[in-house]
Amino acid sequence: MLTTDSDQLYSTWELLEDEIRRCTRCPLYKSRRNPVPGEGNKNSSIMFVGEAPGATEDEMGRPFVGAAGKLLTMVMESYGMRREDVYITNVVKCRPPGNREPKDEEINACNIFLKSQILLLKPRIIVTLGNVAGKTIFSMANREWGGVMKMRGKKYTLQILGMQLHAIPTIHPAAALYNPQLRSIFENDMKLIKSVIDEIVSGAEEIRKEKSKSKTLLDYLK
Ligand code: URA
Repeated sequence: MLTTDSDQLYSTWELLEDEIRRCTRCPLYKSRRNPVPGEGNKNSSIMFVGEAPGATEDEMGRPFVGAAGKLLTMVMESYGMRREDVYITNVVKCRPPGNREPKDEEINACNIFLKSQILLLKPRIIVTLGNVAGKTIFSMANREWGGVMKMRGKKYTLQILGMQLHAIPTIHPAAALYNPQLRSIFENDMKLIKSVIDEIVSGAEEIRKEKSKSKTLLDYLK
């Protein structure tokens, strides 16, 4: 686990987002314009986790709204997923200067927020975008991480914070922007992600619907 026992978990989205907005837990607050807590459907079973905000995200206070985000949105839509149906966030909520990779101490300082987001959302599937996101989520599950190119494109069952969930690592959309080979890897992974969502989330929906149907029938027979 990256966070320590003395860290304070946030029990509502409002408290959590307020705290992220005024956070000074690591030096990244000094150079940020806007913190980027995350956005999307807070009742979703699906969470996408990226690395850290870039320049456009820092300017707008929203995740994945720059060039990489546009590619992510486009590829999601081409496989029948909608951005507004999932919750999207990053490992680190403030932009590292010059878009450098976040340092371990920044990831650790920010981990209480990701941990709280996972507890609040209770996702059944976490899609990790890039090496930093994959490494962080696997470390929260005390699982080995072998690097994004080895781990990507497969479904893993993880235990995080007492919850069993599936993680599907893929590459970062920024890597797929200008490299056709990586672009096709990214697209294939997104296709797999959509099929896992259909299998797990839509399957659970069906079971729920069936259960509520049989309850109605029993009620009727009473
Ligand atoms: N890259 C990320 O990892 N996250 C964003 O929000 C934007 C670009």
